[in-house]
Amino acid sequence: MARPKIALIGGGQIGGVLAQLTALRELGDVVMFDIVEGLPQGKCLDIAEASPVDGFDVELKGTNDYKDIAGANVVIVTAGLPRKPGMSRDDLIEVNSKIMTSVAEGIRDNAPDAFVIVISNPLDAMVTLCQKITGFPPNRVMGQAGVLDSARFAAFIAWELGVSIKDVNAMTLGGHGDTMVPLVRYASVNGIPVMELLERKYGSKEKAKEVMDAMVKRTKGAGGEVVALLKTGSAFYSPASSAIAMAESILKDQKRVLPTCAYLQGEFGVDGYYVGVPCVLGANGVEKIIEFTLDEEEQAMFDNSVNAVKNLVDSLNL
Ligand code: APR
Repeated sequence: MARPKIALIGGGQIGGVLAQLTALRELGDVVMFDIVEGLPQGKCLDIAEASPVDGFDVELKGTNDYKDIAGANVVIVTAGLPRKPGMSRDDLIEVNSKIMTSVAEGIRDNAPDAFVIVISNPLDAMVTLCQKITGFPPNRVMGQAGVLDSARFAAFIAWELGVSIKDVNAMTLGGHGDTMVPLVRYASVNGIPVMELLERKYGSKEKAKEVMDAMVKRTKGAGGEVVALLKTGSAFYSPASSAIAMAESILKDQKRVLPTCAYLQGEFGVDGYYVGVPCVLGANGVEKIIEFTLDEEEQAMFDNSVNAVKNLVDSLNL
């Protein structure tokens, strides 16, 4: 059986890590597309030359021609500008919409059967645009945001409680911006509510809430925290890892439940917008959107986040 083919559109910071992770995990052959001549070719050659050391059997090809993505099973899109310090993700909408338009046309015309995972920001708007232009069914076009936002939340909890990250379960919902909703009530260490563990650690409900509020705030601003430190771009290791988890779940039909920017058609009371919610990702892409009950406060935060997504997406006048 032929190896799966993973096309990466954008060979910048995230694109490079995506290619390396795909190779190291032997998920399939890699084609990296970029408009800059030599960049994808150079990165792919560099990674391929590590194959005798790391021992992976995949082909890596850099290209400036969309024809080379033909037959791709999964396409991961990172084309577009990253943030600079002081910018919000939404500030990128004008320039990245133009880039996404050409990218989506390239995917539509050359890899019509692919599953598409968008990473480019502002995520909720870019994935919407990508779906509209490709015309692919929504189960085949999704965005990566929630896996990363949730990973950040989980990391902060693990560090705070001094427990292994492997035993922390935490999730965020909503848009990929300041309005995202880290779900405090469902955050747990092997099923034990994090709030209870914080109360035991600090001996009071008030202090536990204060510590949790700080972690929630840090989660919402975590992308900006990295941008402020790097000064020349935005996070790239963690977004790449997150998208690879989604691609792997699809390619291996793992049916993992991953927070995904998915097209809602009535779920969570939202119709016709891409929003971050837990989804089953398998051989059919977004196979199922998992609904569950939000309490009043969570629902209000979710509605606020959905409104922010709607305002941004509606500004595209699609
Ligand atoms: N088609 C294909 N690639 C393009 C296009 C285009 N029309 N325009 C720009 N690119 C390429 C650039 O040449 C660059 O190599 O996209 C790549 C983007 O890489 P970086 O600038 O390193 O950005 P990166 O950190 O990878 O982030 C990419 O993901 O998380 C988001 O906010 C981030 O929108 C940004 C995107």
